[in-house]
Amino acid sequence: MQQPIAILDSGVGGLTVAREVMRQLPRERIVYFGDTARAPYGPRDPEEVTRFTREIVDYLIQFRPKMIVIACNTATAFALEDIRARVNIPVVGVIKPGARAAIGRTLTGCIGVIGTEGTINSGAYEDALREISPHVHVISEACPLFVPLVEKGNFRSFETYEAIRRSIGHLRKFPMDSLILGCTHYPFLAEVIQEVIGPNINLISSAEETAREVSTILQDQERMSRGEVLPVHQFFCSGDPKLFKSIAQQWLGEQIELTPVVWQVPKIG
Ligand code: DGL
Repeated sequence: MQQPIAILDSGVGGLTVAREVMRQLPRERIVYFGDTARAPYGPRDPEEVTRFTREIVDYLIQFRPKMIVIACNTATAFALEDIRARVNIPVVGVIKPGARAAIGRTLTGCIGVIGTEGTINSGAYEDALREISPHVHVISEACPLFVPLVEKGNFRSFETYEAIRRSIGHLRKFPMDSLILGCTHYPFLAEVIQEVIGPNINLISSAEETAREVSTILQDQERMSRGEVLPVHQFFCSGDPKLFKSIAQQWLGEQIELTPVVWQVPKIG
């Protein structure tokens, strides 16, 4: 059987990246893990997020993936280098691709970033943006209310609108032209975010650019799948499988097979 691409997140957020990988690389097989039992990762400390990410990678390694995509900004900020040092396959994060996409779109050089507390406090986006364009002006805001809303499938309610308005309404006063959705859960809320922030701001999700990076690596390594038959993807989650499945089906627009994981924390060491 062809080797899959392993994609992981704290929950359903990484599906925004998985969908783009499926669109750009329809022949690639995906094995997805959402750690829904332990989401959100945003308020957790870096050591804990790193430990959780290691545990998921240790779980996914049994499928002999040819690549790992850390489709979670918080885990990318804290654990990307750690995971790269532990496995001998390419590991792709979502922060540099997101930063590249934003720099490619901005005309004013003033970019907003919203993400979890962990991602925003790490300063990883500022670093990634300034590495590409040293004089870029960055405005960052942590939005801890967003991930729990998405995990509940609450994308467009009044409660969601109010949470978004209170969290980012004040960003309208800045002269930015692009806003990075620095959490892979946020594309689920894109409609309401756009409504609150105004129609002239480009919303930047790292999904497309991350999928492009996956594609480039596979091409460079001559590891693209060439099968004629469309692949069967596998989805795993550590929490409530019903909710995960219904959100995944809405987002991916297809029936998915889901295996709930009885999450026994593996020994690390
Ligand atoms: N999708 C994760 C991210 O991109 C959400 C983290 C969380 O669970 O708080 O950061």
